[in-house]
Amino acid sequence: MIKIPIARPFLGEEEARAAAGVIMSGWVTQGPKVREFEEAFASYVGSRHACAVSSCTTALHLALKVVGVGPGDIVVTVSHSFIATANSVRHAGAEPAFVDIDPLTYNMRPDGLEKFLRTRCRARGGRLYFEKPAKPESGCPGAGQGRVSAILAVHQMGMPCDMKSILAIAKRFGLPVVEDAACAAGSELSLDGGRTWKKIGAPHGAVACFSFHPRKVLTTGDGGMLTTNKAGYDRKFRLLRQHGMSVTDLERHAAKKVIFERYQVTGYNYRMTDIQAAVGIEQLKKMDRMIEDRERIDGLYRKHLSGISWLGLPYRPDYARANWQSYPVRVLKGSPGSRDRLMQSLFEGGIATKPGIMNAHAERPYPARVFDLEESERARKEVMLLPVYHGLAEADIKFIAKMLVKVGTAGKS
Ligand SMILES: Cc1ncc(COP(=O)(O)O)c(C=O)c1O
Repeated sequence: MIKIPIARPFLGEEEARAAAGVIMSGWVTQGPKVREFEEAFASYVGSRHACAVSSCTTALHLALKVVGVGPGDIVVTVSHSFIATANSVRHAGAEPAFVDIDPLTYNMRPDGLEKFLRTRCRARGGRLYFEKPAKPESGCPGAGQGRVSAILAVHQMGMPCDMKSILAIAKRFGLPVVEDAACAAGSELSLDGGRTWKKIGAPHGAVACFSFHPRKVLTTGDGGMLTTNKAGYDRKFRLLRQHGMSVTDLERHAAKKVIFERYQVTGYNYRMTDIQAAVGIEQLKKMDRMIEDRERIDGLYRKHLSGISWLGLPYRPDYARANWQSYPVRVLKGSPGSRDRLMQSLFEGGIATKPGIMNAHAERPYPARVFDLEESERARKEVMLLPVYHGLAEADIKFIAKMLVKVGTAGKS
């Protein structure tokens, strides 16, 4: 039986009361609470605009579409991510091209990005095109001659990317950067060597997209948010999330006369509900506490696990303050058993773990063999995620450490 789960949302009376209040108000879909949550979220991350949607996947779809990604295009991203990252590129009609990750941060390698743009793409007529792979059977579906139209950088597991380098490369090649910040609410980044810090979502690229799935630090059950400093982008997100409708329900209800709406573009139903937003407002009030508690957990893991020589603890680059949405550890050479065996032993001891982040290119929809993704593949095989959630007790962390040592010793005998 599992005694220590991998994650647990920090929800309580406040969220329950807020959701009940919305239900009793009679207005349950996108309305005043969504607006209030958007304003509070924009103020929290420091962006001019925030637009709530139904998930991060739908946020990414809208972000890519609005920055100009269209059918037949190529978006440069990582394979080492939840499959929603690559799927959102397909939803926009484009194909992902994958670059490898840094083995320490698990994020996109800026030098890999630069090498890809310089050696695998050609400039033509002021635009950049991905060169068709020499062999058609190379497994890069539909990737031939695609216009490179965006970079999709993932702040994996809440660890901010090296955005300073990525933004400089993007500028040189004239490409917009969309941030997949699904896991990164509350994480911070410094672009000036640690003098000043900004929240992820400020945003650093053109748009940042967040997830409020229960595995994330802040949850609304499901849900997403787009943050940007461009009013034009924000207007488009709002149109697209509600069928392209010219008038919002809020405006219609506040009007003094009958309103006849128009439909300006082909949109979607990507709305967040007011019930979700009311929960989000309460969660935001707890953000500082939640992040502080995860820093405590990071400190405790370092204290209790640093003596295990075959376990690699998460790296902390000097430009990043992670929110520790997940806690990845790498099973190194010299370990008493394989990563999978360790996970099974911990499971039998009542401790839930998860394998490290998947690789989209290892799954059927993205059989891309034309990219060199050695570190992505290595991380997928060697990393496991340890439990991390608000209130995880030091006694539990000690127990996890004890179990790891025990499994290690048993493996050697
Ligand atoms: C990196 C990344 N991107 C996108 C998503 C998709 O988020 P959602 O479930 O809100 O659509 C996730 C969800 O886990 C994720 O981890």
